[in-house]
Amino acid sequence: MKKNVIITGGAGFIGSHVVRLFVNSYPEYHIINLDKLTYAGNLANLKDVEDKPNYTFVKADICDFDKIKEVFKTFKIDNVIHLAAESHVDRSITDPFSFAETNVMGTLNLLQAARECWKDNFENKLFYHVSTDEVYGALEFDNTLFTEETRYDPHSPYSASKASSDHFVRAYHDTYGLPVVITNCSNNYGPYQFPEKLIPLFINNIRRNKPLPVYGEGVNVRDWLYVEDHARAICLVFHNGRKGDTYNIGGFNEWKNIDLIRLLVKTTDRLLGREEGVSEKLITYVADRAGHDLRYAIDASKIKDELGWQPSLQFEEGIEKTVRWYIDHQDWLDSVTSGEYQNYYREMYKM
Ligand code: NAD
Ligand code: DAU
Repeated sequence: MKKNVIITGGAGFIGSHVVRLFVNSYPEYHIINLDKLTYAGNLANLKDVEDKPNYTFVKADICDFDKIKEVFKTFKIDNVIHLAAESHVDRSITDPFSFAETNVMGTLNLLQAARECWKDNFENKLFYHVSTDEVYGALEFDNTLFTEETRYDPHSPYSASKASSDHFVRAYHDTYGLPVVITNCSNNYGPYQFPEKLIPLFINNIRRNKPLPVYGEGVNVRDWLYVEDHARAICLVFHNGRKGDTYNIGGFNEWKNIDLIRLLVKTTDRLLGREEGVSEKLITYVADRAGHDLRYAIDASKIKDELGWQPSLQFEEGIEKTVRWYIDHQDWLDSVTSGEYQNYYREMYKM
């Protein structure tokens, strides 16, 4: 069926994988990638699809309500997959306002634009909101997991802004009947992730023999998922998810930061042709992140049981693939870390 699907944040890390999957798998859909191209958005992430007939890029800010309505009307948008956001927790600690603007107000603009442009006639319409497990707060070091019923308890300005946007999405469903679906996913890794996040930052620093800043004692735990598995999950929920419902997505794959860092060091050293583990000397313990959540872990059994999704890659295999990709794409790494990012990095780590 012909569909005009707007994907916001399509030039970012996860968005670019979602755009690629949809453009390649659904030639009958027209994919409109709407992105402001902040420091985290990069059209080089989508070189391989930019000439496809079912793909259009629109540079726009989700905070610009009139522009968003114009895009809805011009392209007769049927469905929204909303990923655009400020996404880095550390930045939210130093600049919380931009997180409230983009993540809360930007989402509200999109919801309202959808409502107005669809004139409250929602047949065959869908607003898909991509969210995070961080809205649930932090777990102890035990066997508990975040389920779809876990109470929201965000701690960082980033997670507070995402929690707020989730509430607005549900409010539009409950109040106006907007057909929505929300997914809350754990930590993603893979190609095209901006190298301020743990995995690409550390691969880049190992490559350049720069310090590896471990927050606190490195004991915090995250649940890691290969980004293409997340994109597949989004595609599945987009097509088969229940309207008004929420699905958690995770890797069933918890790692203590320091263990993951050691694995990264070993893998990167080996693929760079260095003696395995030699870069451990770069590990530098630094002050802990303010409000650092201890542990995240997702119970993804609902999406597994109801929609048949599960992660396809073993972590070691995914890490190997990821490290190899960054080593093979040093031009990409160098180009996205030039300019404004250099100032941010120096300020952040006092290096
Ligand atoms: P990212 O920072 O790599 O990309 C964000 C994209 O949004 C960029 O292309 C950026 O240019 C665009 N953008 C930012 N502000 C915008 C605005 N005002 N208007 C239009 N576009 C704007 O983020 P990501 O890691 O790919 O995350 C994508 C989404 O998935 C976010 O909503 C995030 O909260 C969520 N999420 C991320 C993870 C993760 O591990 N990275 C996990 C779960 C959920
Ligand atoms: O859980 C999902 C979330 O995962 C997403 O919603 C966010 O958008 C995404 O950025 C990610 O958030 P985290 O804060 O978990 O990711 P980050 O890569 O920043 O950090 C991962 C862990 O590594 C965390 O415990 C902090 C630690 N860390 C991070 C950096 C950047 C370090 O020890 N040193 C670092 O330099």
